[in-house]
Amino acid sequence: MTQEITLTRPDDMHLHVRDGAALNTVVPHTAAEFARALIMPNLKPPVTTAAQALDYKQRILAAVPSGLAFEPLMTLYLTDNLPADEIARAKDAGVVALKLYPAGATTNSDAGVTDIRKTYKTLEAMQRAGLLLLVHGEVTASEIDLFDREAVFIDTQLIPLRRDFPELKVVFEHITTREAAQYVAQSDAFTAASITAHHLLYNRNAIFTGGVRPHFYCLPVLKRETHRLALVQAATSGSAKFFAGTDSAPHPAHLKEHASGCAGCYTAHAAMPMYAEAFDNANALDKLEAFTSFNGADFYGLARNTGTLTLRRERWTPAESFAFGDAQLKPLRSGESLPWRVI
Ligand code: DOR
Ligand code: ZN
Repeated sequence: MTQEITLTRPDDMHLHVRDGAALNTVVPHTAAEFARALIMPNLKPPVTTAAQALDYKQRILAAVPSGLAFEPLMTLYLTDNLPADEIARAKDAGVVALKLYPAGATTNSDAGVTDIRKTYKTLEAMQRAGLLLLVHGEVTASEIDLFDREAVFIDTQLIPLRRDFPELKVVFEHITTREAAQYVAQSDAFTAASITAHHLLYNRNAIFTGGVRPHFYCLPVLKRETHRLALVQAATSGSAKFFAGTDSAPHPAHLKEHASGCAGCYTAHAAMPMYAEAFDNANALDKLEAFTSFNGADFYGLARNTGTLTLRRERWTPAESFAFGDAQLKPLRSGESLPWRVI
């Protein structure tokens, strides 16, 4: 049995760090494991200009503990009216991608896109400039069952989008279904997908075991076991189209343990241990490094990281909660022991 693995330092290709005092809690967790992370722009108000992205990047860097090298990779929030000429400024500022949230799909998505066709001029500019499009792939129509929203998005939104912009690199973010895994596996070289640790480890029963467990509620919501197995198969298949993106999404505990609890699982405190656990459960630790450290960088056209991260099979129990501004942050599996640790 493998007791220790050393990987090239990984990248988290999908991360929420929020702003203000929250940064001081969550940025050190990610910087302790990852060399880089792709920072989601769903602040209030959202990050929609190159200038805002540069300012936000400085605030994140100010929260990196001294002695750790960590690079935030910045994104902009695509809206119905994000002007196409902002794309050149974004490219010059080092912004790597734009995030498409269908309006109303998730946390802070009110400013999101109401109709993808409204963004076509901007998507053309992105395709020319080589900026990636990251999609939250769920339709928002209330008549579509919550558990079907990702599969319906593929047919009604993603397939037409791919047809209209064949050379725009698209990341189907935090995929949760067999349909999405199959779609991405069979697509051309311009489409890839990120997968979270929690969607590899849990199915939807986790939300309801012994009562409603709000810390397992995220969007897209956990699906049934057949879908989890399809995600594990995709992540451990060796296909370069799948890579790590934790979607770690901190919320104050009192707003998750609430009558209308916020969506988002916090995993940054133990992201690589959780990915290692998922790959170990599938007897695929040999596939972990490509998934966490190579495939994302390669798809984004970034140099692979230098330096290493070592994980050991050794039980430990993360803190039950973390101070989070004036509130508390409860991580996923709060108080539970984990089989792998970073050393
Ligand atoms: O669960 C989620 N939380 N899904 C998202 O898409 C957004 C995220 C957040 O920002 O809290
Ligand atoms: Zn997210």
